[in-house]
Amino acid sequence: MSHRIAVIAGDGIGTEVMPEGLRVVEAAAKRFGIDIAFTTFDFGSCDYYLAHGQMMPDDWFEQLKDFDALFYGAVGWPEKVPDHISLWGSLIQFRRRFDQYVNLRPCKLMPGIKSPLAGREPGDIDFYVVRENTEGEYSSIGGKMFEGTEREVVIQETVMSRTGVDRVLKYAFDLAQTRPRKKLTSATKSNGISITMPYWDERVAEMAKAYPDIEVDKFHIDILTANFVLHPDWFDVVVGSNLFGDILSDLGPACTGTIGIAPSANINPEGNFPSLFEPVHGSAPDIAGKGIANPIGQIWSGAMMLEHLGYKEAGDAIVTAIEAVLSEGDQNVLTRDVGGQGTTESLGKAIAERLARG
Ligand code: NAD
Ligand code: IPM
Ligand code: MN
Repeated sequence: MSHRIAVIAGDGIGTEVMPEGLRVVEAAAKRFGIDIAFTTFDFGSCDYYLAHGQMMPDDWFEQLKDFDALFYGAVGWPEKVPDHISLWGSLIQFRRRFDQYVNLRPCKLMPGIKSPLAGREPGDIDFYVVRENTEGEYSSIGGKMFEGTEREVVIQETVMSRTGVDRVLKYAFDLAQTRPRKKLTSATKSNGISITMPYWDERVAEMAKAYPDIEVDKFHIDILTANFVLHPDWFDVVVGSNLFGDILSDLGPACTGTIGIAPSANINPEGNFPSLFEPVHGSAPDIAGKGIANPIGQIWSGAMMLEHLGYKEAGDAIVTAIEAVLSEGDQNVLTRDVGGQGTTESLGKAIAERLARG
């Protein structure tokens, strides 16, 4: 069976890490005999916006909906296009229209990488953030009143539907059940956000009844961020609303040394639409064009994509190759964020070669 993957590199370092992501996915496809066809699109980038006045063509949904997966780099270049326009015109449309309601983001301290947290070793930090990805604080309900006057008011509503909350919780509980520790932590703020967050807690408590073997705890988001730093070893599966999950999924990887290695899977678990795989990081204008971005976030996202397509062995082999290259610690290969002097390409090639060797 042949798998069709839509490739959208996006902006900034998205265009630099994508070739390495493709290199490694292709190496895995070759080693495991997987038939993959890539189709590249130039939309979903700020340069496309500058040329066309919109981030994507009107028929983007039709063009992409029959692909087996989307492989995305990063989008955003605030000097060219305001971020809310570029992101709401691309990535957020994909998540919403393709109903990718789970954003799965692993946080793992890898061998060879030094955590900024004193005394933490590989094995101490190994958890998943499961982020609600289609509603919550990222809602299009709201508006401006009395614009331009002193009475100006802006409102953006938080939306939590029972279906929307329950389905992501179910995914998180099911994931916790596959893990040896069987532990789920809920991110809440039901002391201060008095309608939506108590509702979130209620749905967690209700869902927990169906999973008596899962240990469930919850923290308000403020102390939860502190505990990510102080006690990262407490966590196994952490589930949160769209915004809380966003914040936790930069903080978690930062505790593992760099956000440059963090992958994500924007998943439509029912398979009604393609799922989307992208690094957690953005387009990093501060280092773009220098060839020094860490490609591991993109490469590991490619591993998650292969696993999603049914090739767990191939996905695992990519992660093993990443770990092997990080453990070797060759300064000329590793990028600067993980203590080396190498380039995006040197690190991508080393992982691809390692993978090909088996
Ligand atoms: P960012 O993730 O782009 O960068 C934050 C910091 O991390 C920067 O110092 C950057 O150099 C560093 N960094 C990021 N990725 C790295 C990598 N692979 N290797 C080494 N260092 C890396 O976040 P930002 O600066 O807040 O956002 C920049 C742009 O990207 C904005 O337009 C933003 O909206 C967008 N963005 C897009 C996505 C996405 O496409 N999913 C995610 C986050 C931010
Ligand atoms: C992410 C990003 C996006 C988000 C931005 C760029 C809209 O930060 O994928 O984590 O907030 O979801
Ligand atoms: Mn983010």
